[in-house]
Amino acid sequence: KGCKLVGCGSAVPSLSVSNDDLAKIVDTSDEWISIRTGIRNRRVISGKENLRNLAVEAAKKALKMASVEPDDLDLILLCTSTPEDIFGDAPKVQRELGCTKSQLAHDITAACSGFVLGLFSASCYIKGGGFRNVLVIGADVMSRFVDWTDRGTCILFGDAAGAVVLQACDAEEDGLLSFDLHSDGEGARHLGTPINDNENGSVLEFPPNRSSYACIQMNGKEVFRFAVGCVPQSIESALEKAGLTASNIDWLLLHQANQRIIDAVATRLEFPPEKVISNLANYGNTSAASIPLALDEAVRSGKVKPGHTIAAAGFGAGLTWGSAVIRW
Ligand code: ACO
Repeated sequence: KGCKLVGCGSAVPSLSVSNDDLAKIVDTSDEWISIRTGIRNRRVISGKENLRNLAVEAAKKALKMASVEPDDLDLILLCTSTPEDIFGDAPKVQRELGCTKSQLAHDITAACSGFVLGLFSASCYIKGGGFRNVLVIGADVMSRFVDWTDRGTCILFGDAAGAVVLQACDAEEDGLLSFDLHSDGEGARHLGTPINDNENGSVLEFPPNRSSYACIQMNGKEVFRFAVGCVPQSIESALEKAGLTASNIDWLLLHQANQRIIDAVATRLEFPPEKVISNLANYGNTSAASIPLALDEAVRSGKVKPGHTIAAAGFGAGLTWGSAVIRW
């Protein structure tokens, strides 16, 4: 059995925030941000925009491209670490898409690796579980958890959603060729958005106070080192499982965290710059949305064509990281 990608879509908030806009609220500059990260703009939710609006809009576009009706879906996987509801948003997205069957919808939490894990889960549901049409959405609104007074983190993130539709098919048409997935809780201290309570190991009184989350805390240098060290190995391992080498692959599509990370990984794997997909200049790091957002833009602009192969990799908090070799 196989599963193929039959549609993609994406959505971003309307408010565009430039590096110069950020320089008005923290001590930074367009030059510093551009040189260190490659980011020039990001989109941030405002007004009535929220995670679910973005997820639903991206999903509708992907369903339209796939010519799949909401009721034809057997499963919706919403990869997000910033849900509107901590119990999960996928069933609400299911309802807002107009699905009338009680097909399964659930969230997947794995920060910037979420979408790659979503693809793997979809492939297991389809290849092993008899599911036929699966919608995988990667969506995050990091702006809700960013400390907008911390120049070390607030310059990096943006909000977005991206989605793909996967469909059961014959093995020869398979579009998810291989995966390589990892996590390491030891590295969790370098990147997280922990609960505020009990930080110093103090004992909770009964009844406990209502909990809240801290802002994103990150040791940028360590995260950088982790990404540049682990991602090339992971992609090599996924390529090996697929029986391919970098030279057989049409596109390298990494989680869009920092252009310097993308360049370092591409150099290590000997991908020439013209084979590297990058759109983080316009959107910043959109966490679980970054891979499907960049894929959607590349497909709609005609860069990625039917039959092209893509080496994709997500990496981030957890720490988690993983790669997928995909055929569009
Ligand atoms: N503007 C101006 N100066 C700044 C800024 C800023 N926005 N941010 C930091 N600086 C200063 C620092 O204070 C420091 O000053 P000092 O030398 O006087 O102490 C100097 O610039 C260098 O700071 P570094 O943190 O060492 O800069 P670095 O080159 O490491 O770049 C960055 C920082 C861009 C964050 C980089 O480390 C990075 O991209 N790391 C990876 C981050 C990442 O990918 N995170 C993924 C999160 S994904 C997820 O799962 C949520």
